[in-house]
Amino acid sequence: MIDLGHDRKGEESSDQPFEGENAETLTIDIREMQLADLDGVLWVEQSSFRTPWTRTMFEDEFKNPDMAHYLIAQGHDHVVGYMGFWLIQKEAHITNLAVHPAFRRQKIGERLLFAAMRLAHRLGAERATLEVRASNDSAQKLYAKYGFQLVAIRKKYYNDNNEDAWIMWMNDLKTFFTGLP
Ligand SMILES: CC(C)(COP(=O)(O)OP(=O)(O)OC[C@H]1O[C@@H](n2cnc3c(N)ncnc32)[C@H](O)[C@@H]1OP(=O)(O)O)[C@@H](O)C(=O)NCCC(=O)NCCS
Repeated sequence: MIDLGHDRKGEESSDQPFEGENAETLTIDIREMQLADLDGVLWVEQSSFRTPWTRTMFEDEFKNPDMAHYLIAQGHDHVVGYMGFWLIQKEAHITNLAVHPAFRRQKIGERLLFAAMRLAHRLGAERATLEVRASNDSAQKLYAKYGFQLVAIRKKYYNDNNEDAWIMWMNDLKTFFTGLP
């Protein structure tokens, strides 16, 4: 992920689903994140990363509405995933993507990625990029499925374990909107 000056870059942990709910029974809507969503976003964040962003870090993102764009996946009243990107000139820099462990492998990550890239495209982005841990096979596969390609490796980028970062780019966002499954 892009370095926002925040010490995140964690990895997965686990958590329990909502009582009486599961991904199979949820209808998922994707919409813009609001400040009122932060409790739910933090629940997803803390279940997904070893060094999660804090509430203040998310609140800071709302101070730059022209640049920072965040979406959530919502089931009933609950946030089950979220994604963000920074629009920098004609580039979308993906900052975050996470789906709560109880709701993974249900295409929610795909829907968030698609919605975010469509929004970025509408806002004028022509290319998109991100950083992902070298060991994060699931996320790499998701990005690759949607046309992101590995273009560089940033050695020992993650300071918690000296892990390398993969730098991935999607060079033509229009391509993103064709040939979808
Ligand atoms: C990466 C993440 C967002 C994927 O969310 P998800 O909703 O489970 O993913 P989806 O169900 O939309 O999967 C879409 C595609 O991603 C890939 N994928 C997702 N999870 C995968 C897994 N566990 N193993 C292999 N491929 C996987 C597959 O290509 C999949 O397509 P397929 O179902 O046709 O095989 C989720 O695993 C997550 O939150 N991980 C922890 C946080 C994280 O690593 N974020 C990314 C930081 S760069």
